[in-house]
Amino acid sequence: MIHDPIGSRSGGGRDWKLETKGTLCYMIFQIRSDKQRDWAAVHAVNVSAFETPAEANLVDALREQVLPLVSLIAENNGAIVGHIMFSPVSLSGYPALRIMGLAPIAVAPQHQHKGIGSALVRAGLEQCKQLGFGAVVVLGNPAYYSRFGFSSSARFDICCEYDVPEESFMAVELQAGFLRRASGKVKYHAAFSNV
Ligand SMILES: CC(C)(COP(=O)(O)OP(=O)(O)OC[C@H]1O[C@@H](n2cnc3c(N)ncnc32)[C@H](O)[C@@H]1OP(=O)(O)O)[C@@H](O)C(=O)NCCC(=O)NCCS
Repeated sequence: MIHDPIGSRSGGGRDWKLETKGTLCYMIFQIRSDKQRDWAAVHAVNVSAFETPAEANLVDALREQVLPLVSLIAENNGAIVGHIMFSPVSLSGYPALRIMGLAPIAVAPQHQHKGIGSALVRAGLEQCKQLGFGAVVVLGNPAYYSRFGFSSSARFDICCEYDVPEESFMAVELQAGFLRRASGKVKYHAAFSNV
């Protein structure tokens, strides 16, 4: 059973209490922006979490080619155990709309199911908002992302450039009504075509 003593607050360090079979232990991790010295460890976390190195290579490629990025890590006892990246996407017909795409997110397999992924998503959404982005899109499992406020992008009349099931492409507004008058196709950076 996972207890979250500070609920869904985002940003900063946090303590997570993990209770299993009557034994009480603590998983303490901190969420922060990554620095160049973290990049090799971030690559390794992505390699460990995904079946192929494609996502790890995508992270490296986006770093070289895209600004601004939101790239956060979860750190436990000085070890990087999770990573999330957000990069700008464009909506056809609305080039001025500031929208981020969440991808990829990775938590080292031995540290999954401890709330690290959720903390990364929440902190990342907050940072995107602070940077002035009005919405975030994600391609993934609705069962996971709906807990952060994401819902089917069809609700906002936007779709993905890739041929994916409608319900797996989701959006969340960071500013109320941001996507209200928009519609069209979301395009990711060209680096995503290698994944
Ligand atoms: C997805 C991922 C980042 C979640 O990180 P995490 O730290 O384990 O997540 P949390 O502990 O915050 O949340 C765990 C919850 O997410 C659910 N979950 C985890 N991965 C999921 C997935 N791919 N689809 C749906 N639900 C998922 C768990 O069942 C659990 O649900 P519960 O709270 O109802 O029990 C992690 O599982 C991971 O790195 N997976 C491999 C890489 C990947 O698939 N990334 C996503 C695509 S970019």
